[in-house]
Amino acid sequence: MTSNELRKKYIEFFKSKLHTEIKSASLIPENDPSVLFTTAGMHPLIPYLLGEKHPAGKRLVDAQKCIRTGDIEDVGDNRHLTFFEMLGNWSLGDYFKKDAINWSFEFLTDKNVGLGLNPSRLYFTVFKGENGIPRDDEAIKTWQEVLSKNNLPNGVSNDESVHDDIKIIPLGVNDNFWIAGATGPCGGDTEIFYDTRPEEGKLEGKFEDLINNFRVIEIWNNVFMEFNKTIDGKYEKLEKPNVDTGMGLERTITVLNNAETVFETDSFTNAIKKLEEISGKHYQDRKKNFRIIIDHIKTATFILGDDKGITPGNKDQSYVLRKLIRRAVRSMDSICDIKTIFTPEIARVYIEQYKEFYPELERNKEKILEELQKEEIKFKETLDRGIIEFEKIWNEIYDKNKLDAEVVMSGEKAFFLYQSFGFPIEATKDLCLERGIKVDEVGFNEELKKHQESSKIGSEQKFKGGLADTDPQTIKLHTAAHIMLQALRMVLGDNVFQKGANITSERLRFDFSHPEKMTQEQIAKVEEIVNKQIKRNLPVTMEEMTVENAEKQGAMGVFKDKYGELVKVYTIGDFSKEICGGPHVGNTSELGNFKIQKEESSSAGVRRIKAILE
Ligand code: ALA
Repeated sequence: MTSNELRKKYIEFFKSKLHTEIKSASLIPENDPSVLFTTAGMHPLIPYLLGEKHPAGKRLVDAQKCIRTGDIEDVGDNRHLTFFEMLGNWSLGDYFKKDAINWSFEFLTDKNVGLGLNPSRLYFTVFKGENGIPRDDEAIKTWQEVLSKNNLPNGVSNDESVHDDIKIIPLGVNDNFWIAGATGPCGGDTEIFYDTRPEEGKLEGKFEDLINNFRVIEIWNNVFMEFNKTIDGKYEKLEKPNVDTGMGLERTITVLNNAETVFETDSFTNAIKKLEEISGKHYQDRKKNFRIIIDHIKTATFILGDDKGITPGNKDQSYVLRKLIRRAVRSMDSICDIKTIFTPEIARVYIEQYKEFYPELERNKEKILEELQKEEIKFKETLDRGIIEFEKIWNEIYDKNKLDAEVVMSGEKAFFLYQSFGFPIEATKDLCLERGIKVDEVGFNEELKKHQESSKIGSEQKFKGGLADTDPQTIKLHTAAHIMLQALRMVLGDNVFQKGANITSERLRFDFSHPEKMTQEQIAKVEEIVNKQIKRNLPVTMEEMTVENAEKQGAMGVFKDKYGELVKVYTIGDFSKEICGGPHVGNTSELGNFKIQKEESSSAGVRRIKAILE
């Protein structure tokens, strides 16, 4: 089956169940500055999942273009992609678990209207109940009925593993509870897994292990949105529950064709063929580079092809687009020495392949090809100039060291190449590797961080008298605010979340959720904790990571709608971890003595603290 056939079959199937087909929304979210790209099928539908009426009705079906660049460094392995399509069927306060489960099974297994998958290769996880929310017995019962009706075993696991006639595996919140961030519509889900290697014998063992070694892979998620999680961590029952489903098209097509990886499916084979022609190299010999090139140019093609008119640049979506094109060009550079422009040639393949379903690609064809060409030329010039500068530095190092001792290119030098000539650190690393020397990457990152901080200060200073004046004292108060939030949570409990902050060089004003006035003892305790941390001389460090990772590491912050995005996480010793744009001091020892001057009401359920550093 081809991708086009799968997409069509899915949409037709749900149309026959009285769903209305809606077009994929733009890759660039509407009215949502908190996230750069649409990262899941449910993202453009959030207002409707929260109760707003959808003009197309209560049952919808679609294929949504999605981009996730959080794992961009992993592209090149056998499964990470930055662009994918998510097939989804939606109940907006209409049908619920019974229909969703029955239709999923019918679509997956029926030979005529569906995919005709062998049902003995399917396994179903469900929510086992946690955090005060009960086990999803309705989903379990429905699966059992479906399975027995089809003369299949229907055992339910009680130890998160598969053995004997187990088909249904209840798992906890980390696996079978879905929410797009910290708050909003959410609920338990049931995920459908496919046994990829039945030739290895009966499926057996901990389900987590079976997932990790790819014996089973998830192909479809049905989320039963029954709750709205509020800012204070409560799960309120939704008036009308929804169904939010997601089937990854590329992954499912891989499974259907028994392909080794997604790159061996029609999602990519034409592009690979074209790239083999242009480069004169074989995919089999240079898999990683090929995958990076064809993945990144595909994503770039779809961003440029979107009607929102993004072009390569230095900010937000434009920056991601530039990064994708440049990574592709660098990857090409390392497999062959072609002088001709190649990125538009690969893009042409994708435009042909997808234009029927995504006509915007044809509409914006000229722009796609032109922008790719411009960016490729520009970047090649950058590379050429950077290489000349690199050679100068190399000669200096060589002269000094005569290559006897271990030779290292300093972080400052690598940063100079990056800062002054736009020469990527990866290129510096490659060239150094070829010459048998090392790059001080830690030093490079420190330089980068210093620069980011000062340019941040620079840009905020433009708003002097407006937003904030960012002088050293404000930076200190900002770091103190992070320590204080953690101290407040220790003294008052986990329901404390930041609701706002306003910092001047004189004082820190901080709003947080808490239902009642703090006592004198509580205030004294918070001050004591903060001052103790200051005296511990804790280092303050920054790391960029995906929002998923930040959440996993327990960082404080707003995750909603940021899935797949890179964020900065500031860590203060072993005491605090928060998503934050910075800047911050380097060590808590710089802060001085912390004092709370005032604690008062701000609005219903929100308290306000004014504090200083003396
Ligand atoms: N929203 C669910 C997901 O992205 C379907 O997995």
